[in-house]
Amino acid sequence: MSSLKQANRTQRGSLQIHEANPANKLHLTVVEDYEQMSQAAGQLVLHQLTQRPDSVLGLATGGTPVGLYRKLREEKADLSQAMTFNLDEYYALPRQHPQSFYQFMKGHVYDPLMPLGYDIPNGESAEVEQECTRYETAIRDAGGIDLQVLGVGRNGHIGFNEPETAFSSRTRLVALKRETLEDNAQFFDHVSEVPKQAITMGIGTILEARTIVLLASGPAKAEALYQLMYGDISPSVPVTALRLHPTVHVIVDKAAAALLK
Ligand code: PGA
Repeated sequence: MSSLKQANRTQRGSLQIHEANPANKLHLTVVEDYEQMSQAAGQLVLHQLTQRPDSVLGLATGGTPVGLYRKLREEKADLSQAMTFNLDEYYALPRQHPQSFYQFMKGHVYDPLMPLGYDIPNGESAEVEQECTRYETAIRDAGGIDLQVLGVGRNGHIGFNEPETAFSSRTRLVALKRETLEDNAQFFDHVSEVPKQAITMGIGTILEARTIVLLASGPAKAEALYQLMYGDISPSVPVTALRLHPTVHVIVDKAAAALLK
């Protein structure tokens, strides 16, 4: 079904009508493997920084962008005028915990690449609502995100926006789904230690980025990729919200593209 035909589709239970953006183009690039995916993503980010050294970058954590950040370090990407915002952070996990997203970013990006400024939701905040408002305001005050890097969960989540999240959602506290807890358990001693909540940018926040780069690698992501390309635009698969955005680069390896025609 074309995205135009999906316009005017009424979403189950929400009475919300999502108009497919007629200008939407998912720029799909299928590469051989994780290494090539990271290389291609690195080129896009480096190009963005060349075009606009004071770019505002939206960054992601997880296994997917590790290779991209390695490329940026290898290429000595100049972030000295750039600002970064992260998609999400576990809630109530101390920032000093080795599995906090803050520590991930510190190791992969903040310390080695030294952006002019960086921000990430404060998962230790006692005033969560205020923290979410602060984060939205900080993004806006920085001029909005020029380029947002995204991974995708095997259940189709983007950031920690799990299935059935409204496309209009903003930064907020969310509960993580079982499959997300299981997927992230590999980084903890036991699944019971994975934080059950997180602060995440909303889908509405993500869709305001000027350009989006979605990365996916490996067979576990194949179904989510299929839904992105061919499924209904629906909150039941959050990544399909990207079809409402005008400029999305989808860079995937062959394994993640296995179900695409
Ligand atoms: P991953 O996570 O990069 O560790 O596969 C992606 C995501 O959950 O968004």
